[in-house]
Amino acid sequence: MQPLDFTGGRVFTDRGRFYTESLCPGKRIYGERLTATSGTEYREWDPRRSKLSAYLHCGGKEFPFRKDGKVLYLGASSGTTASHVADVCPDGRVFCVEFAQRMFRDLVGTCGTRPNMMPILGDATRPQEYSMFVESVDVVYQDVAQKRQADIVCDNMDAFGAEFGMVAVKARSEDVTASPESIFAAAEERIRERGFRITDARSIEPYEKSHEMIAFRRARA
Ligand SMILES: C[S@@+](CC[C@H](N)C(=O)[O-])C[C@H]1O[C@@H](n2cnc3c(N)ncnc32)[C@H](O)[C@@H]1O
Repeated sequence: MQPLDFTGGRVFTDRGRFYTESLCPGKRIYGERLTATSGTEYREWDPRRSKLSAYLHCGGKEFPFRKDGKVLYLGASSGTTASHVADVCPDGRVFCVEFAQRMFRDLVGTCGTRPNMMPILGDATRPQEYSMFVESVDVVYQDVAQKRQADIVCDNMDAFGAEFGMVAVKARSEDVTASPESIFAAAEERIRERGFRITDARSIEPYEKSHEMIAFRRARA
């Protein structure tokens, strides 16, 4: 099991698979494979179930999640990816926002396995409505699969003072008639207009069709 340097040693690799060190040994969140080495348990991070893992498998090197990082995760669903982010940030906090009641119930169960995961029933388009539950954060990660994804992530970065952003843009959620390339270009342009600098943008196919991960940070004057 080898740590990946560009993740600050927080993500591990072995024979082409990626892993996080489990904060809750013995417990699976989504049926993932568990493996123990020298008394430490690792959870396989499946790129077919997690767009952030897909990004890493596609060669992505932007990874702003630190051991003590505070992360606002928008569109947490049942907490599959968010649980890996929580493993990566054991001394930090992951605020998980989800607006679908059904998914939120499962998310509450997932958050119960990790003391640094906090479930928030809220709408990512209205950050003011959950601002009382969220501190300032280092990173906003967004995977809401709906329209206006670029503005939603930027609004939350401004609301919570984040330095880093990542957004998994789903072309079909923005406009089924336009080409994915034009949708990705428009999302990148909007992020720049909002005062951020894009540090990476790449397709996450073949793991997710017509999706692009965009990583960015606040531009310095
Ligand atoms: C593609 S799924 C997220 C999968 C999850 N990020 C993962 O990797 O485990 C998108 C989720 O975003 C949620 N969602 C969509 N629009 C939202 C909004 N405005 N606010 C909060 N959640 C939203 C959906 O209910 C759904 O659970």
